[in-house]
Amino acid sequence: MTSKGLIVTGLLFGFLECVLSQSLKVSLPGGLSEKIQGVALGGWLVLEPYITPSLFTVFENATATNTTENVPVDEYTYCQVLGKDECASRLETHWSTFYNETDFQQIKQMGLNLVRIPVGYWAFALLSGDPYVQGQEKYLDQAIEWSRQNDLKVWIDLHGVPGSQNGFDNSGKRGGVDWLKNRTYISTTYGVLDYIFGKYGQANYSDTIVGIELVNEPLGPLLNMTEVENIYYNSYQSAKAKYHVQDTIVLQDAFQWIGYWDSFLSNETSPAVMIDHHHYEVFTVDQLKASIGVHVSNINSFGNSIVQHLANHSAVVGEWSAALTDCVRWLNGVNMGARYDGTFQNDEVIGTCDNITDWKKWTKDQKRHTREFVEVQLDAYNQTSGWIFWCWKTEDTIEWDFKRLVALDLMPQPLSARKYTMDGVISGGLKLGLGWKVYCFMGLLLGLTIGF
Ligand SMILES: *[C@@H]1O[C@H](CO)[C@@H](O)[C@H](O)[C@H]1NC(C)=O
Ligand SMILES: *[C@@H]1O[C@H](CO)[C@@H](O)[C@H](O)[C@H]1NC(C)=O
Ligand SMILES: *[C@@H]1O[C@H](CO)[C@@H](O)[C@H](O)[C@H]1NC(C)=O
Ligand SMILES: *[C@@H]1O[C@H](CO)[C@@H](O)[C@H](O)[C@H]1NC(C)=O
Ligand SMILES: *[C@@H]1O[C@H](CO)[C@@H](O)[C@H](O)[C@H]1NC(C)=O
Ligand SMILES: *[C@@H]1O[C@H](CO)[C@@H](O)[C@H](O)[C@H]1NC(C)=O
Ligand SMILES: *[C@@H]1O[C@H](CO)[C@@H](O)[C@H](O)[C@H]1NC(C)=O
Ligand SMILES: *[C@@H]1O[C@H](CO)[C@@H](O)[C@H](O)[C@H]1NC(C)=O
Ligand SMILES: *[C@@H]1O[C@H](CO)[C@@H](O)[C@H](O)[C@H]1NC(C)=O
Ligand SMILES: *[C@@H]1O[C@H](CO)[C@@H](O)[C@H](O)[C@H]1NC(C)=O
Repeated sequence: MTSKGLIVTGLLFGFLECVLSQSLKVSLPGGLSEKIQGVALGGWLVLEPYITPSLFTVFENATATNTTENVPVDEYTYCQVLGKDECASRLETHWSTFYNETDFQQIKQMGLNLVRIPVGYWAFALLSGDPYVQGQEKYLDQAIEWSRQNDLKVWIDLHGVPGSQNGFDNSGKRGGVDWLKNRTYISTTYGVLDYIFGKYGQANYSDTIVGIELVNEPLGPLLNMTEVENIYYNSYQSAKAKYHVQDTIVLQDAFQWIGYWDSFLSNETSPAVMIDHHHYEVFTVDQLKASIGVHVSNINSFGNSIVQHLANHSAVVGEWSAALTDCVRWLNGVNMGARYDGTFQNDEVIGTCDNITDWKKWTKDQKRHTREFVEVQLDAYNQTSGWIFWCWKTEDTIEWDFKRLVALDLMPQPLSARKYTMDGVISGGLKLGLGWKVYCFMGLLLGLTIGF
């Protein structure tokens, strides 16, 4: 072969590889024909102070003496402070106004295909002495119906179990991790999951509901993992044998390493098993000190490590955000500060949290880095079975609010558009917005030109 022939052959192989590397298919959970591109309806059926601060700041002026200590810190104390009647009345207003069908239409219009809906056990069962109120189920059913009408899939996520599986405010009850410390808590968890399997796992929901997540973020390092695995295993078997669940059973990774679940339920295919990994870059001082370059490299390693294990289970990045700081008020909890400005448990000041929700005062670098961070995550996570952004909307954050990020052009529309990255690498400010196919062809053309 002539040298030109060799060059042409080489380039053609390179081109084919370029194309093939982009079209590799990963296994998808049952009921899905495309990768998950979703948002979570955070702060709706389970309260989170940083998502809807207005429900909590009204307590700040309740007394003249010390304003902060009157603010409830989670849904449990919210209802405890208000009493059942007043709590039910305020939550009913919140449930019926924070989301309506327009949200589902907009979610669809922005190229998304799934909503993950967090709900607490107390929507289905109350323990004696629980201050929680009920009424969420009607809204969950309404959300499923709106999703069906707007061609969106639904994944139901049991976000809080009795005693709390992680002590985070988003489990309903902040503080202790007491889930496994009381037999009633465990039996109530099974009971609630059985109810969810029995109702939402039926065939007549399976056109819309594609996943049931057993428990969100069990805090593995503080729990007995053998017991967590037993609960996952028993719940799966119950879903399969007793309720003939049609949907994928989603297992949150419980803060274990990516490959931890590889052999777990690995011979089970019906219902399918999917692993849910969450990733944020703002909850340790080291992460917060990282440059955008380090963040990009962290994201790529995280995405790649999930890809290594897709042969064992399909897996998604079921929570991520655009945040590069933990500055948003109450992100770490009511009355908790931020690590970033040294007001949490660390003294070290990394930067200032001023103006974090004031778009007019965002610097050029802040805007650019946030969009780069978003693009890199879209690229990396799209190599897995998909991703779910946390959340669709908030009252006043920027980095945790998909809808606002789109409005501010920090989240691409269409989702595949890129301003700064190419295949997960920041591309020095190229703003071509061309797809990979164009780059593959340009590479081929350039090669041919040089070759001849
Ligand atoms: C509480 O009082 C402060 C100071 O008077 C005021 O700025 C703030 O708007 C009040 N908050 C609410 C929720 O009423
Ligand atoms: C008010 O209460 C909070 C939370 O208990 C505490 O951190 C703060 O120091 C108190 N402020 C005053 C002025 O007593
Ligand atoms: C949903 O709520 C928004 C904001 O209040 C409103 O503009 C919109 O018309 C509502 N949509 C529906 C379908 O009620
Ligand atoms: C377990 O929880 C139940 C329900 O809240 C409670 O009645 C019971 O006292 C608890 N048992 C223990 C040992 O804490
Ligand atoms: C599914 O069927 C059950 C009865 O088996 C019924 O109660 C429920 O309303 C149905 N749901 C939908 C969405 O059709
Ligand atoms: C964890 O739970 C298992 C099963 O209940 C038990 O055998 C084991 O002793 C527990 N481990 C610890 C460290 O408590
Ligand atoms: C994961 O899947 C790979 C490829 O199918 C297989 O070789 C490996 O044994 C699996 N690992 C575990 C722990 O099951
Ligand atoms: C799957 O493997 C587990 C052990 O990892 C075993 O206990 C179980 O019986 C197997 N199930 C099937 C359906 O083969
Ligand atoms: C926040 O805004 C104030 C007033 O515009 C400005 O002086 C300050 O530099 C800003 N801080 C940051 C971190 O951008
Ligand atoms: C994810 O990859 C699929 C092809 O597998 C593509 O159609 C889609 O546009 C990609 N999404 C994003 C956000 O890049």
